[in-house]
Amino acid sequence: MRCCDELGAVSDESGRLTRTFHSPAMRRANRLVGSWMRAAGLEVREDAAFNLLGRWPGTRRAAKTLLLGSHLDTVRDAGKYDGPLGVLVALAAVKHLKERGVTLPFHVEIAGFSDEEGVRYQTTYLGSRALAGTLTRADLSRVGGNGIERARRPRGEFLAYAEVHIEQGPVLEQRSLPVGVVNTIAGQSRLRVEFRGEAGHAGTTPMHLRHDALCGAAELALAAERCGVLATVGKLSVEPGASNVIPGCVELTLDVRHQRDARRCAAVRALQTKARDIARRRGLRLTWTTVQETDAVSCDPKLSRLFARCVAARGHEVLTLPSGAGHDAAALSAVCPVAMLFVRCKGGISHNPAESVKTADVAVAIGVLADFIQSLASRHG
Ligand code: GLV
Ligand code: MN
Ligand code: MN
Repeated sequence: MRCCDELGAVSDESGRLTRTFHSPAMRRANRLVGSWMRAAGLEVREDAAFNLLGRWPGTRRAAKTLLLGSHLDTVRDAGKYDGPLGVLVALAAVKHLKERGVTLPFHVEIAGFSDEEGVRYQTTYLGSRALAGTLTRADLSRVGGNGIERARRPRGEFLAYAEVHIEQGPVLEQRSLPVGVVNTIAGQSRLRVEFRGEAGHAGTTPMHLRHDALCGAAELALAAERCGVLATVGKLSVEPGASNVIPGCVELTLDVRHQRDARRCAAVRALQTKARDIARRRGLRLTWTTVQETDAVSCDPKLSRLFARCVAARGHEVLTLPSGAGHDAAALSAVCPVAMLFVRCKGGISHNPAESVKTADVAVAIGVLADFIQSLASRHG
């Protein structure tokens, strides 16, 4: 918890927590967490995608690697647990096992991924997708081709990926449970939409002769609110942006989520039709760009049952729940089985500085993860 506090002060902005892909604060965060990993006896490096990696070699050289972790980047004005908690819980679990003299038949690597939130390029999972080798050409051109694809790891290297994360929802709190086992991670579409109208004088242009790009964008935001799935317009930029000028151009981000891919895709298509209709009616030019589509992901049933057994063995009721938020596990599912454990968070609040977790719940998560690693070892022994 002290490490979370200390890391929570490493920010690109004064007075609030913001760390984005490869920013100065991300570099400082990697150095700080890297120093904690080194102190725990891990072999530490940063890969070509700026992921921080701490390795605990197993007893068999040719063995596969169990990957643990989460992300170290944050949203703007973030809380201090979304991402970092998963990295630090993994480190605490590994330290606990090492201190007890446990040795493992597989290697363990803890990743602090460099971009899960997608704040810098509006595209998520840059770090974990680089590691998985699933970056697209569009991703590479977006980040300026700085060689991040070299972070790709050999096929078949990973035994599994297990991630601990705050729930970011209210279910565990309502059920009075410290942790829960995740079964699916919702899919998400991220889009960039531009409405181009005509800037003009706010005092002289009659209302019926305007091509106001912001009014078009506002109509689309309201349509998103009513589209029947989770849809969010999170960022708007209005040009030229003056109180006495009719908005000539608006760019907005649209984020659409659902557990069922068909529902999400249908909602995106309906919103595109709506945007075309708005543009036609208002005399605006529409540009509709798909930035990213990630399908829903199922966690591995066997690994999830193992997590469930470890939760039950510590005397807690097992609750299985879906994740509406995206996680690095979704990216890793392209190359290995994945499993996730959620930790209760206060009021279900996240992406907000008010994020809060109980020390006792974090202790449960550390214990469950340590047991999970050992159970996996006895299976592979
Ligand atoms: C990550 O927090 C996401 O789901 O956007
Ligand atoms: Mn997260
Ligand atoms: Mn997040």
